[in-house]
Amino acid sequence: MHLERVAVVGLGYVGLSLSCALASKGFKVIGLDKDYEKVRMIEKGLTPIYEEGLDKVLGEVLDNGNLKLTQSYEEMINWTDICFICVGTPSRPDGSIDLSYVEDASRMIGKCLRNKKKYYLVVVRSTIPPGTTVNVVKKVIEEESGKRLTDYGLCFNPEFLREGKALQDIFNPDRIVIGCLDETSGEALLDFYKSFHGDNVPPVLVTTPTNAELIKYANNAFLAMKISFINMISQLCQNLPGADVKVVAEGIGMDKRIGREFLDAGLGWGGSCFPKDTIGLLKFGESIGVRLPILEATIEVNDSQISNAIALAEKLVGGVYGKNIAVLGLAFKPGTDDVRESRSIRLIEKLLERGARVRVHDPKALEKSREVLKNKVSYASCIEECLQNADLCILATEWSEYKGLKREMLEKLMKHPALLDCRRIYDPREFKGIKFAAIGLGEPSI
Ligand code: UDX
Repeated sequence: MHLERVAVVGLGYVGLSLSCALASKGFKVIGLDKDYEKVRMIEKGLTPIYEEGLDKVLGEVLDNGNLKLTQSYEEMINWTDICFICVGTPSRPDGSIDLSYVEDASRMIGKCLRNKKKYYLVVVRSTIPPGTTVNVVKKVIEEESGKRLTDYGLCFNPEFLREGKALQDIFNPDRIVIGCLDETSGEALLDFYKSFHGDNVPPVLVTTPTNAELIKYANNAFLAMKISFINMISQLCQNLPGADVKVVAEGIGMDKRIGREFLDAGLGWGGSCFPKDTIGLLKFGESIGVRLPILEATIEVNDSQISNAIALAEKLVGGVYGKNIAVLGLAFKPGTDDVRESRSIRLIEKLLERGARVRVHDPKALEKSREVLKNKVSYASCIEECLQNADLCILATEWSEYKGLKREMLEKLMKHPALLDCRRIYDPREFKGIKFAAIGLGEPSI
């Protein structure tokens, strides 16, 4: 089956990156988003998010006509053979997942499929709780279209994209997971990926939609757990003279069964996925009467890293009340301007609660931070301005720009040179002679 014309619903970082990647390989893509402003912006070649390399690819695929945009489901479905649903699945206030956008998209697609003669494949990429493809998407599409599987096709196909590396992860994924109820749907999606990846098709796992949905959640939960594990060990190290979590991480990471990745201790995990998905999985477990204690502890340790950092800061400068604090890094990780659930922002809010005066810097995320922090902090346009007259500098996001920070610079610019490394990017030996502390380091030279 040759599915050549592709629809993508929802142009957030998952949908927009997918649209651009497919279009760059010659697929004819039509992207839909209900946000008019976003569609207008993308049409002009502007990416609503900072994602490395994406603006260049977007410009190319708009120019060669491989990517078009619309707000009409009818136009989109009539014109295409396969549709990827990439709409948001935000958290409700209690942490459970709001499926209304997935339902709306399924309803609109279902309506348009009623008159479609040709086989059409619907692929859900949004992260959804186990059971949703069958109990929500399939049900709604079939009610609206009057069709039954195998008149049309349906798969759940999770994405594992990292922000900042989205394109790279689409072109070279570790694996493709396909959840489907019927063979035709699974084979149609696999054929599609074969034409996309050519000779380099990654390993493929074909299973039920429920397994595929759970794989996505379990994957993120495991990675978050790995980070929380090393952060738990970092708290031990901090209270053990001579211990250093970086060395411990290196040592255990050499065990192939463990691996070194996702063992960087620090302020913990943030972003648009781990926080939402860990609590979402916890709530899903609750909804079917299953407790997930490791996940509970994973979230607890992550939260405790903020108070851990505050305690280190207070110890280093003798209380933060009334102190001028320079915070370097606001994005939830380097390489993005995304501040959703950023640990740095959470830390700043706690510092402000304790009466500190905070000045911030970030190479990409200043604008997005302003929307959250408003006028509660002052904003610096360069590192030097941020450090000026400060009593303490806190490294919160490990942008490469910050790696070159030198003791002399702190001595020259700050009122009282003191550095707290919350992402372990500095060698403590280079800051001998000034106040220095770091997460997971047993011997701060206070
Ligand atoms: C994550 C998953 O990696 C991706 O597969 C999934 O599709 C979406 O969620 P992302 O949120 O972009 O991707 O960021 P990631 O690079 O995984 O980092 C998540 C958070 O963990 C960041 O706040 C990062 O700073 C933190 N982190 C990561 C650590 O604190 N230590 C580490 O060792 C690794």
